[in-house]
Amino acid sequence: MRLFKLPFNNKKEKNVEISTDLSENIPKHIAIIMDGNGRWAQKRGLPRIAGHREGMDNVKRIVKAANLLQVEVLTLYAFSTENWKRPSNEVEYLMRLPIDFLQHYLPELVEENVRVQTIGEAQDLPANTQKAILNAKQQTADNTGLILNIAINYGSRFEMIRSIKEICEEVQEGKYGIDEITENTLSHHLYTSQLEDPDLLIRTSGELRLSNFLLWQAAYSELWFTETLWPDFHTEEFEEAIRDYQKRKRRYGGI
Ligand code: IPE
Ligand code: IPE
Ligand code: MG
Repeated sequence: MRLFKLPFNNKKEKNVEISTDLSENIPKHIAIIMDGNGRWAQKRGLPRIAGHREGMDNVKRIVKAANLLQVEVLTLYAFSTENWKRPSNEVEYLMRLPIDFLQHYLPELVEENVRVQTIGEAQDLPANTQKAILNAKQQTADNTGLILNIAINYGSRFEMIRSIKEICEEVQEGKYGIDEITENTLSHHLYTSQLEDPDLLIRTSGELRLSNFLLWQAAYSELWFTETLWPDFHTEEFEEAIRDYQKRKRRYGGI
């Protein structure tokens, strides 16, 4: 199948504005399952990839808003280990998206002090996708603002198996005994070892599941679901999710 080419959207976005009354108790780490791009396009009689392109524009808005709100980490689920099952033209387009996104948006990310990181098996991505991501990581490595953590070729079960194998090797090497393995041991072997667990996990598009996203890390995350499809999930609703989070009582099993 021919790869459907869509031009990058260069239209000037209106400036992202955030509410000033939101500054107390902002979730430090927000994770988002950006779902519903395909349905967004289908509703308009467009090919699914048009939804992914529109979804990418929304990433820009939400990254800006998160940075302005002084969120510390924003983890975005961009491609799961199961998404390889999709038709090849869609997969190709999704592999191309980070390249286009970073080509157009990296200077702004650098300027806005955003640091790009990824979680997932990056070495299995196409070479040019890896190159674009590596370049973005290098150029933003010293930035101290929002960490934009992109989950790409990410699957939580794979992440855990990979960590367990590493732990087994370390036990075999005699670094520590089986009895010394704790929750921290596993946490420190996950891709997210340097990050705190998400405080708030958002999923768009009305699906009420985690789809292999941060299963270990989200043990005590506050969950927030919306029917809105990802391309339509704008700053106002992002703020609504945060306001809702701020009202919640996190007990972690206590009283
Ligand atoms: C989410 O949108 C983006 C990715 C999974 C890459 P979908 O492509 O899953 O959109 P729907 O769920 O089919 O509408
Ligand atoms: C989860 O969405 C993955 C991403 C958003 C990248 P999916 O659309 O792949 O999830 P399922 O298949 O509906 O569970
Ligand atoms: Mg989906």
